[in-house]
Amino acid sequence: MQKKEMLYEGKAKKVFATEEPEIYIVSYKDDATAFNGQKKGTIVGKGVVNNRMSNFMFRLLEQQGIPTHYIEELNDRETAVKKVSIVPLEVIVRNTAAGSLSKRLGLPEGTPMKTPVLEYSYKNDELGDPMVNDYHILAMDLATREELDKIAAMSFKINELMVEFFRSVGVDLIDFKIEFGKTTAGEIILADEISPDTCRFWDVNTHEKLDKDRFRRDMGGVEEAYDEMMKRIGLR
Ligand code: TMP
Ligand code: ASP
Repeated sequence: MQKKEMLYEGKAKKVFATEEPEIYIVSYKDDATAFNGQKKGTIVGKGVVNNRMSNFMFRLLEQQGIPTHYIEELNDRETAVKKVSIVPLEVIVRNTAAGSLSKRLGLPEGTPMKTPVLEYSYKNDELGDPMVNDYHILAMDLATREELDKIAAMSFKINELMVEFFRSVGVDLIDFKIEFGKTTAGEIILADEISPDTCRFWDVNTHEKLDKDRFRRDMGGVEEAYDEMMKRIGLR
C-alpha cells in the first residue's frame, strides 16, 4: 500500500489517498491541542500509542459485530482504512460526570450517571463544535433519521463493550468521543480513533487520570499515562 497525495490534515492525524480508490491511509502525529486548538503542544510518542490502541480497539469491536473503517496496521503510526465520508458529528457517551458535563450541570467530577448519557456536537471548528440534538441534526441534514438511529444504537453497544473491556484491565471508562463515517455503499461504520486523546480513563482503584486530561489541565505525567494505557491493554 503506497501513500499518494495528502487529502486532509487535522489536528492529530493526516489522511492520504492510495492507489486503491476505496482505501485511505491515516497517519497519526504527536501534535496535541486542546480547547479548540487554543492550547498546543507535543506528546512524544502519542501518534504511535493512538494508532496502535485505536487499531486494537477496532479489532476488538469488529469481533463483537461493530463495523469499523479498520483494514490493516501498516506501521507504528500508519493504518489502511476504508474510505468514508465522515458524518460531521462528535458522538459522546458518558458513564460518569466529568469535563464539560460537570461544568454544564454542576455535577462534581466522578458522579456516576444512572444511565449512559449520549450527546452530539456539530463538528465545526469555527463554531467550537456546538452541542446539538436530534432535531438540529435532522433539520440541518447532517444525518437521516435511520442513520442517527444506527449511530445511537452502535454508540451504546460500543460503550457496553468498551466499559467491560477496560474494567477487565483495571480502568474505568468515564466517557469518550467517537465519529462515524459513511462508505461509498452507504453503510454507517465506526471511524476516526479510540485513544487516550478521545476517552477519559481513570484507574479503577486510585482514580488516577490516564488520558489527555493530564495535558489539557497541565497535570504532568502525560507520556507516562499514555504508556500506562498501552501496558494495561497488553501492547507494551
Ligand atoms: P468534554 O467533557 O470536554 O465534553 O469531553 C467529553 C469526551 O470527549 C472526553 O472523553 C474527551 C473527548 N473529546 C474529544 O475527543 N475531542 C474534543 O474535541 C473534546 C472537546 C472532547
Ligand atoms: N483536540 C481538541 C481541540 O483542540 C480538544 C480536546 O481534545 O480537548 O479542539
